[in-house]
Amino acid sequence: MRALVTGVAGFIGSHVAQNLLRLGVDVIGVDSFDSYYSRSLKERNLVGLLSSNRFEFLERDLLTADISTISDSVALVFHLAGQPGVRKSWGNDFDFYVRNNVVVTQRLLDYFAQEECLDAFIAASSSSIYGDSSLVPTSESHLPRPISPYGVTKLASEHLCTLYALERGLPTFSLRYFTVYGPRQRPDMLMSRLIRASQDADEMQINGSGEQLRDFTYVDDVVEANILAMSAAKNHRGEVVNIGGGTPVSVNAVIAQVEEATQKPITIKRVDAAQGDPSQTFADCSLAKALLGWEPQIGLVEGLERQVEWSSSSNNLHS
Ligand code: UGA
Repeated sequence: MRALVTGVAGFIGSHVAQNLLRLGVDVIGVDSFDSYYSRSLKERNLVGLLSSNRFEFLERDLLTADISTISDSVALVFHLAGQPGVRKSWGNDFDFYVRNNVVVTQRLLDYFAQEECLDAFIAASSSSIYGDSSLVPTSESHLPRPISPYGVTKLASEHLCTLYALERGLPTFSLRYFTVYGPRQRPDMLMSRLIRASQDADEMQINGSGEQLRDFTYVDDVVEANILAMSAAKNHRGEVVNIGGGTPVSVNAVIAQVEEATQKPITIKRVDAAQGDPSQTFADCSLAKALLGWEPQIGLVEGLERQVEWSSSSNNLHS
């Protein structure tokens, strides 16, 4: 069996590809190496994958690539490519978000709907589609109301997946991730920045009071959700499920935990709250349990220790 993994050089994509290879699935991995963060970090994410002769890497921009040239014998798609970052999506940058999160998804869906060759199309969605939900834990039946342009594009992408399932029969399955962390986390995200600030004795900017809550989710749990969704997609096409760590924690509590894990104090500079930053996220994961048999396994203390350990052993973290 062969899978296409888009965004394979990224944080989640590289982990998913690694686990597919481990399970005996051959992988075609695609990445455009866009400039959101450094190419060298992404190339490092690929090192383990490239040592397998069942992995093929193609540098392609999915906005323009001929999809037929990257989909030979593919039965599974894990669509993890996209323009991430909640707080950068305002203003002129919105155009990148629309193209990379909406247009690219539609191009892939349209191609694979025509080919009728897929067992599953697993798509990455985001807790950002909920906006600032006061109803927590938030279930999938809650009305999505994004508060960032990024969230709007992820919601559009998710709706496209459901649309192609309902109208064109494509076995899509969308996973709404809640602030994923762990080894290889993107360098712009909270944990990565905190660990770096602690290692380098740099100042760390915290948006707002730091009392905002996130339902942080460990990357291995996200990988497991992707693997389980592979077999669920045919019977539950078009479904959308929350994938969250299960225990919301404040940014301030994370700062304390990173200080504890690294045994180094972090100098914090408080700045204004960021536009589009929800005050809390908290996933109701009962649908993921019912449809996939999925539950989060790794708690924040253990997950953070693993990320700190990974980052200490890597000498190339900085971008
Ligand atoms: C993360 C990802 O970046 C999104 O791509 C993803 O879609 C989203 O999770 C999601 O779950 O939907 P976010 O929750 O903002 O977005 O994750 P972080 O970037 O790790 O930020 C967590 C919190 O720390 C936010 O309140 C943010 O304002 C704060 N933060 C982050 C800072 O105060 N300073 C920083 O330097 C970075």
